Amino acid sequence: MHLTLRQLTLFEAVARHLSYTRAAEELHLSQPAVSMQVRQLEDAAGLPLLERMGKQLFLTDAGKEMYAHARRIARELETLDEAMASLKGVRRGHLRLSVATTAKSFATRILAAFSRRYEGITYSLDVTNRKMLLEQLAHNEADLAIMGQPPEGAGLVSQPFMENPLVVIAAPDHPLVGEAAPIPLERVAEEVFVVRERDSGTRMAMERFFAEHGLQLKTGIETTSNTTIKHAVEAGLGLGVVSLHTLRLELMAGTVEVLEVEGFPIIRHWHLVQRADKRLPPIAQAFASFLTSPEGLELGHSHLPREEDLGGAAPSD
Ligand code: PGA
Repeated sequence: MHLTLRQLTLFEAVARHLSYTRAAEELHLSQPAVSMQVRQLEDAAGLPLLERMGKQLFLTDAGKEMYAHARRIARELETLDEAMASLKGVRRGHLRLSVATTAKSFATRILAAFSRRYEGITYSLDVTNRKMLLEQLAHNEADLAIMGQPPEGAGLVSQPFMENPLVVIAAPDHPLVGEAAPIPLERVAEEVFVVRERDSGTRMAMERFFAEHGLQLKTGIETTSNTTIKHAVEAGLGLGVVSLHTLRLELMAGTVEVLEVEGFPIIRHWHLVQRADKRLPPIAQAFASFLTSPEGLELGHSHLPREEDLGGAAPSD
């Protein structure tokens, strides 16, 4: 079969998006240029790879086979690119960082400080939940991820670098505010909780915590956003469990209160995670060193609420 790497790369993007338009956008090419290359690949294969039914594009059986090979080849090409970049040093390149929704506030700060040191580098910062982060790492779509502890056996290496305390929040006029501390967990479990989506690390940690104490969580509104949890709690729709890293402004403004609940804060840790089989490009190595340096950690901690805003609920080290 006579085909070119370019045809395969373009086909991989079309098959991934199932759209010529989105593939063309991603590759900064015109749509006719992309479809022409894919047609040439179909000619080389001697079989149709894509078929259109109505408005929807589908992969044929041959297309699925070609896509599996094209993905592997695309990954190899990225590894080759990274190996060459690493021989050139950190003067140019692109850092693909993906972070958990809950980590975005401090991660943005750290990335901003880091990027001032390395002009000539471009950055992408993707913000998503735990499950999607694991998928991105599995598909080599991120160099590094900042997230809770990844599962064992997923081909990943991780380094804990900072605490992530999860606390219970309530509206200032909630009956539990002002209750003698520590408030028994059984009492809190009688309340409805506004929760994150099932694929969130925060949600998994709180469910595990209540289950370990033999308690069933009463869940109310479910949302993908920590901000919505805080607004819903403030509006009186229930209690919430959120990371202390998301609470600085609300505690300063007094829109929600941290409850001193038995067993809380749940102390999780932020991890810097990468694929075990990946040779990091030099810019990603530089970012990993910066994040775990005293300066990086200081920036991470500077996003936590101050002691005086917390009242008595400061987590112990
Ligand atoms: P999130 O947090 O997925 O709830 O945003 C990440 C984590 O704690 O693992």
